[in-house]
Amino acid sequence: MSNQLPKFPEPYWRDHVDLPEFDSLKTDESADVVIVGGGITGITAAYLLSKEGKKVVLLEASNLLNGTTGHTTAKITAQHDLIYDEFIQHIGRSKARLYYESNSEALQFIKQIIHENELECDLKTDDAILYATSEEYAHKLEKEYEAYKALHIDGKLVHDIPFPIDVHNALAMKNQAQFHPLQYLKHLVQAIIDNGGRIYENTTAVNVEGIEATVLTRNDKRITCDYVLACSHFPFYEGTGFYSTRMHADRSYAIAVQTNTAYPGGMYLSVDQPSRSLRSATMNGEEIVIVGGESHKTGQGKDTLEHYKALQNYADDLFEKPDFLYRWSAQDLITLDKLPYIGEITSTQPNVLVATGFRKWGMTNGTAAALLLRDIVLDKENPYKELYTPSRFYADPSLKNFFMENTDVAKHLIKGKLETPATSIEDLSRDEGAVFKANGQRKGAYKDENGEVYIVDTTCTHVGCEVEWNHGDRTWDCPCHGSRFSYKGEVIEGPAEKPLQQHDHTMLENLTSENSGY
Ligand code: FES
Repeated sequence: MSNQLPKFPEPYWRDHVDLPEFDSLKTDESADVVIVGGGITGITAAYLLSKEGKKVVLLEASNLLNGTTGHTTAKITAQHDLIYDEFIQHIGRSKARLYYESNSEALQFIKQIIHENELECDLKTDDAILYATSEEYAHKLEKEYEAYKALHIDGKLVHDIPFPIDVHNALAMKNQAQFHPLQYLKHLVQAIIDNGGRIYENTTAVNVEGIEATVLTRNDKRITCDYVLACSHFPFYEGTGFYSTRMHADRSYAIAVQTNTAYPGGMYLSVDQPSRSLRSATMNGEEIVIVGGESHKTGQGKDTLEHYKALQNYADDLFEKPDFLYRWSAQDLITLDKLPYIGEITSTQPNVLVATGFRKWGMTNGTAAALLLRDIVLDKENPYKELYTPSRFYADPSLKNFFMENTDVAKHLIKGKLETPATSIEDLSRDEGAVFKANGQRKGAYKDENGEVYIVDTTCTHVGCEVEWNHGDRTWDCPCHGSRFSYKGEVIEGPAEKPLQQHDHTMLENLTSENSGY
């Protein structure tokens, strides 16, 4: 234990579960349903469909639960920040109520699975609480409370929370929950196998071909199937759905802390900036606190290590002698109207289904998505189909956001191609990365702890934006659609499928820092 932040990011969840391992796909296969993505949505969908007797294949590009699900704060709640007043204004009361119901049903579904199977996964029923530290946001919370009443959501407006924080208003949603998501999902993975499902890790799906769908993998294997479910966070295949132009990526941070201060209960989220989140968890029988927040658009903003330090300072203010056990960050996708896209990828490909854009609320949205995808595959009625259909287009406010998203992408497409860096390769410290120029081209370099330098081309292999160095996680992050690459250039997270171009050491002598611009 330490009163310093851990040197390397690692989520608490992954360090406290033993997950099974699976081989990569080595032969062509066939199935009823191919599910791409081994997070909560893909695993829950594979579980539900295999339980219905469908032959399912689940493909994961790296290891199961290594993406956003493995990096969550794992609140299971329908309280998704300030959203219900906004939804009533933009999509109407009945659709706003449907959103609440689908997420509440997802919460009940998770609880039911845990109770029926007597799973040990640190499940705790608790209230979710939004709090405001400014007058402006206190007023917004009052409006959100009015929305709760209009939607018959069990809520309560109070003026204090049990922390030394100067709070103006706080809004509770009663009887929500928290858990250890990987301990829960480990059970579903075992159930998929017991139901005859097949799971392949380190197998990257890259395309879908044909009317009778065939999923193609990077290692040239093919799986024919009736349905493809793209549950890969950003869809591994977009068809003609233009998902890149309809979502942006946000990054947020979390640390796990052990302290002598007793945690008072509740799951908290500040509504004003910078965002802050609190919940407890049980580690080896002892209470810890997960402190989150500091969200920002991926690849934009300050040195990412500063975000962790801000959370560390916040924990120092709230808790007695905190020991900092873990730190990690997560990436979330946000749609134009803040509702997830769940359903047919486009109307011309009704057997390719997508689930994405859960904002920061993947535990319930991901579970709700899996339940809806199951019903679409089984041709069953589902009350939320229309709400989440990706082909919806609410002109207001989406149209405005649509142009803003694309203006942002256009900005990043040319940014960096024009700028030049200030650092020289000699000045680069060990364990540091920066952007350089080589023969007029923008390059990224990372010097590891032994002094070894790794050089990549900073042009994202998705549609060509310029990646930025993420000092906190030692990754190259793309500000346009959130692709992330290791310091060596390998893809950590899509939509990019190909690694950044890598350069050998002969490039070193060409790296310059002409014309300061960063
Ligand atoms: Fe789309 Fe990088 S993720 S250009």
